[in-house]
Amino acid sequence: MIDVRAVNYTLQVAGRPLHILKNVSLQTKPSEVVAIVGPSGSGKTSLLMLLAGLERVTSGSLAVNGADLTALGEDDLARFRRHTMGIVFQSFHLIPSLSAIDNVGLALEIAAPELSQSQVREQASAALAAVGLAERLEHRPTALSGGEQQRVGLARAMVANPPLLLADEPTGNLDQKTGAMVIELMFNLARERGTAVVLITHDAALAARADRVLTMTQGELVEAAVTH
Ligand SMILES: Nc1ncnc2c1ncn2[C@@H]1O[C@H](COP(=O)(O)OP(=O)(O)OP(=O)(O)O)[C@@H](O)[C@H]1O
Ligand SMILES: [Mg+2]
Repeated sequence: MIDVRAVNYTLQVAGRPLHILKNVSLQTKPSEVVAIVGPSGSGKTSLLMLLAGLERVTSGSLAVNGADLTALGEDDLARFRRHTMGIVFQSFHLIPSLSAIDNVGLALEIAAPELSQSQVREQASAALAAVGLAERLEHRPTALSGGEQQRVGLARAMVANPPLLLADEPTGNLDQKTGAMVIELMFNLARERGTAVVLITHDAALAARADRVLTMTQGELVEAAVTH
């Protein structure tokens, strides 16, 4: 699913190179659930941005789902993102003026413009039911709890059934119990559908539920000991 080889990611900050990712390699299989842990500032989000095609590698190769992201232009990258991945952000990023069903529906419309309005509503409502929010379809984000908003975020990321789910500390703004519930749901949905997952988390207990755990330390990614 992911084939990252010898990737370096360097930014110029105040005229000096800042080496954010150093010789990072990562290969994952379809349906594999991978967790990345590591201290703040170690480069986890940077790696996710590269995998999402939202930033570009400085050197090395990076392919996702068979596509060489270093060779795609902006339009192709946007198209690729729409069809290949769902992203769950730490801080939800829901559209405040839209109800839960419209937040999810909009993502689906963008990924699958051929669908009719009624198909969009039907599938968005099913995605929200899958995360336990069948009774909250018409709620706007401000009328939802943190855990509910994050579940809308998860429904939005998964509604178009992408082969890859990228999640950047999706439980960072949730209490431990709610966070564990969201992760449980995410893993269950992913396993049911065979979705590959890259999950960034600070929570070692959540990370241990993944097939593999990798640790990012000062821009270097290493495989942690097998957890199970
Ligand atoms: N656009 C940028 N300009 C300058 N420095 C940046 C930029 N983006 C990231 N960095 C730096 O790169 C390093 C890695 O950042 P990154 O966001 O990937 O860390 P992280 O592991 O996700 O941390 P956290 O756990 O706090 O989210 C940090 O030191 C950060 O300051
Ligand atoms: Mg981060």
